[in-house]
Amino acid sequence: MNTKLVDNIDWVGFVDWNVRDFHGYETSRGSTYNAYLIRDEKTVLLDTVKAPYYANLLRNVSELVPLDQIDYVVCNHAEPDHSGSLPRVMEACPQAVVVCDQKCRETLEQYYDTSAWTFQVVKTGDELKTGRFTLQFVETPMAHWPDSMATYIPEEKILFSMDAFGQHYATSGRYDDEVSCAEAIAEAKTYYANILMCYERPVSKALDYIDNLDVTLIAPSHGVMWRKHVTDILAAYRDWVVCKPEPKVLIMYDTMWKSTEQMAQAIYEGVLEKGVRCDLRYIRATHITVLATEIMDAATVAVGSATLNQTLMPQCAAALTYLMGLRPARKAGFAFGSYGWGKGGPEAVQEYLDKMKIRSLREPLKGRYAPDEAVLEACRAAGRMLAEEALKICEQQENGESPDK
Ligand code: FEO
Repeated sequence: MNTKLVDNIDWVGFVDWNVRDFHGYETSRGSTYNAYLIRDEKTVLLDTVKAPYYANLLRNVSELVPLDQIDYVVCNHAEPDHSGSLPRVMEACPQAVVVCDQKCRETLEQYYDTSAWTFQVVKTGDELKTGRFTLQFVETPMAHWPDSMATYIPEEKILFSMDAFGQHYATSGRYDDEVSCAEAIAEAKTYYANILMCYERPVSKALDYIDNLDVTLIAPSHGVMWRKHVTDILAAYRDWVVCKPEPKVLIMYDTMWKSTEQMAQAIYEGVLEKGVRCDLRYIRATHITVLATEIMDAATVAVGSATLNQTLMPQCAAALTYLMGLRPARKAGFAFGSYGWGKGGPEAVQEYLDKMKIRSLREPLKGRYAPDEAVLEACRAAGRMLAEEALKICEQQENGESPDK
């Protein structure tokens, strides 16, 4: 089922209610693969959908225009959730020219047999006149892949932003004002944290570019389109791109015989004594998708693990590996955990935190076997420190000072 954006521009994508995994990201609300059809003197299909849903895409398109009248297929991004149907589309529309940037062409050639395809390679500043509309292209490398590109139609002030501003969010509404705004923003935040958080500089550059455009509709490649809350989502991105700290603490831990859990609980109590918000997360009960989202705007963080085989617990290592790749910036914190006849858990956590460039607030906080009252009081004190540091970081942020000072 299609949705009109403006006269002669329609959404023709696919709503995937059932997908629950996107390369490790838990998509608990499903997703959408947004494709758009531009009918003008020239007819353009802007992006495709994930491979299994090519027939849905072709049906949506053919309800509006015969497939043999497609002149161009713009490929803004070669990742298969958007390009997966391209081979079937090119079979159905053999005269269509694929419009993409050079990196995208190279990537498509690696994924698919493109020998029968005609390409028109574009770069930032290039335009494609379709008649009434102009498609202006801007390369946005690393937002999300090197090949990523956005397309802007100035006549309608529509930005087809590709992955940026997307959400893994299956709904019957196609627009932000047809769903709960809070839900849409929350899903956009989860999406940003898990997909784009490590690309601060390229995303900042893309935002700078968008600032110079007159945009009334942002049409991303996943989730709802932004027409009522354009300003809100752009402002949110400005915060997320720098992992802007909230006065909030994240405590995440794995435990073996509940000793590290007791320490985590005591740290939590210390944070709450200072009246600061705190997320307390047992790693084995919390998906990494949630941890990535929560660490993004936490000012300070404590990560704990019991000692297993002289190192940290494997699920803790997995979570930290994921977070390390996403590179949450401008955090401070410390490691904690228990040990017994063997040592090494908290120290191994600290090594991860160092690699993540999390500013260390203290040496690893350790308890042997079961933590005694002295250890638990040290944990409460460390929690108070985490809270105070979180408040200080946020105050520095408000004053325009570096949180690292
Ligand atoms: Fe939605 Fe980077 O693909």
